[in-house]
Amino acid sequence: MKFHRINSLEDYKAQYQRSVENPEAFWDDIAKTFTWQKPYTKVLQWDFQHPSIQWFADGELNITENCLDRHLPHKANQTALVFEPNDPSQKVRTYTYAELHQEVMNFSQVLLNQGVLKGDRVCIYMGMVPELTIAVLACARIGAIHSVIFGGFSAQSITDRIIDAQAEFVITQDAAYRGNKIIPLKPVIDDALLKCDFVQKVIVLTHAKEPVNMLKGRDIWWEEEMELVGKANVPPAIMNAEDPLFILYTSGSTGKPKGVVHTCGGYMVWANYTFEQVFQYQENELHFCTADIGWITGHSYIVYGPLLAGAKTLMFEGIPTYPDAGRFWDIVEKHNVNILYTAPTAIRSLMTFGTGVFEGRDLSSLRVLGTVGEPINEEAWNWYDENVGKKNCPIVDTWWQTETGGVMISNLAGITPSRPAWATLPLPGIQPLLVDEKGIENTEINAETGFVHGNLCIKFPWPGMLRTTYGDHHRCYTNYFATYENLYFTGDGAYRDSEGNYRITGRVDDVLNVSGHRIGTAEVENAINMHVGVVESAVVGYPHDIKGQGIYAFVICTDHTHDKDLIKRDINETISRLIGPIAKADKIQIVSGLPKTRSGKIMRRILRKIAEGELQSLGDTSTLLDPGVVEEIVKFRV
Ligand code: PRX
Repeated sequence: MKFHRINSLEDYKAQYQRSVENPEAFWDDIAKTFTWQKPYTKVLQWDFQHPSIQWFADGELNITENCLDRHLPHKANQTALVFEPNDPSQKVRTYTYAELHQEVMNFSQVLLNQGVLKGDRVCIYMGMVPELTIAVLACARIGAIHSVIFGGFSAQSITDRIIDAQAEFVITQDAAYRGNKIIPLKPVIDDALLKCDFVQKVIVLTHAKEPVNMLKGRDIWWEEEMELVGKANVPPAIMNAEDPLFILYTSGSTGKPKGVVHTCGGYMVWANYTFEQVFQYQENELHFCTADIGWITGHSYIVYGPLLAGAKTLMFEGIPTYPDAGRFWDIVEKHNVNILYTAPTAIRSLMTFGTGVFEGRDLSSLRVLGTVGEPINEEAWNWYDENVGKKNCPIVDTWWQTETGGVMISNLAGITPSRPAWATLPLPGIQPLLVDEKGIENTEINAETGFVHGNLCIKFPWPGMLRTTYGDHHRCYTNYFATYENLYFTGDGAYRDSEGNYRITGRVDDVLNVSGHRIGTAEVENAINMHVGVVESAVVGYPHDIKGQGIYAFVICTDHTHDKDLIKRDINETISRLIGPIAKADKIQIVSGLPKTRSGKIMRRILRKIAEGELQSLGDTSTLLDPGVVEEIVKFRV
């Protein structure tokens, strides 16, 4: 049995209305199409004030039974996963549903042999190889909670996450290929684990055949353990719908990254529902999401969403510019990709290579294009539409977040209209509203713009929403539910037109979006401040042609700092060590002071304007502790 697939704009409207008027019946109809080991009796219980959200609470299931086992009777020999390696001359690997099911059971047995129990946290730090998907699914199969860490994060970031999650098991690989580089992974884990002596086992996959250091008693080889296991038969662990499925760390406006927790039942329903409705996946199509599984997009739209739908999903190990800037298009042609889902930053960077790369490359298999991760500018949208979609493929602009588990606002491919730079309409079940600073709902259309503007909130729960932040439920409350009473606050600003379409303008808090990666300004400042030569710093974003946002750091250094160029490079090295290269500052300005209010608060608004080059509209600076500082900063702007 399948849930109802929305098939027209009118149908969308009817479904949407039903989801608002009768949410429990609406979600019950969808959820009951899945395989439950024990059916739930209650669809939803919720409270946003003392955040507690439960979907299908007394139901029991295993997501891998729904991703794999339930497809076996009719799809055992159909491709589930296609792996395109970094080097195009290397062999493509494919797994049918039966093969993937077997591999997942085998690795589940490896985990069980190592003593991994239901509820244990397993940290996965790997490149984009099929074994990453297998590791993720094996954890889910035995009820362990996976926490995937993006391969670009530094040892220190990994340490922080492993300690926060108290993960006693780690899965990694020797090294990853990325374009013409070999990126060591196991050595980074070795550094990270110097401060995590509670980690019991590290399972190491050989991929790039790089030499690694293997610690006796702790480190074991993936291949050897798999060989020991042979053909295993591991039944899916029985999970409560509200048991955690995974933790994924993401940046907020304060403190260290927090572990967003998603649960087995609600996330499953949401990942599958959104995948099918948004992309309108058709039987036998190939779905290519270019994200890394280290981010939520990869979790939901490379692994879980497609496999739950019984689809064919493609994993690509490399980068869009290797061996040349036509790599995505080669992959589309080679594998007959039907759905391509990527980020605006990738589109903007490919635009700089011109349209010559399309010559001789056949993209006619494409049916749907998608974007995610940051606002897409009209120029990039049109370029994507004309050159990739040949004006023949709907583009879905999907707005969502790590916390939302799946797409929240988007047009549905070929069903509801697309509109450049607009995410358009909320999915059924999603009840957005725009509020002012005080939390009062804005409904008035601004006469000048023709739109309502405000901070984007959601007033009703949906199955895929986060349940908590790992180990610190209060933080979940303060981050998402404390700003406005009884509302989930997204941290984004948005416009809405008279027809209910949304255009997301970006973060309104101190979170940056650099090349589609979420980075907290506080996190970068803390890293910069760790440098011996630094007294204080302030970090803001500024518009960047390719990355969407760039990082601009204003730094006060100690008196004895003489070589300014060297200290700037040192600062970026420190950021790289403490967070990862993705958080390096694009611009660093050494300043003698920062604009502060009399109570000592840094006036980021002014710094943001300076970084953006909006020098005419700095606003009133007379209330600052030392207004002269602003003049100096403007004068030496970089
Ligand atoms: O600011 C929004 C932006 O990305 C943020 C979420 O980042 P993350 O949790 O890393 O998840 C990214 C992938 C889902 C949002 O708060 N964002 C995401 N999609 C869009 C977007 N901004 C505009 N348009 C989008 N389609």
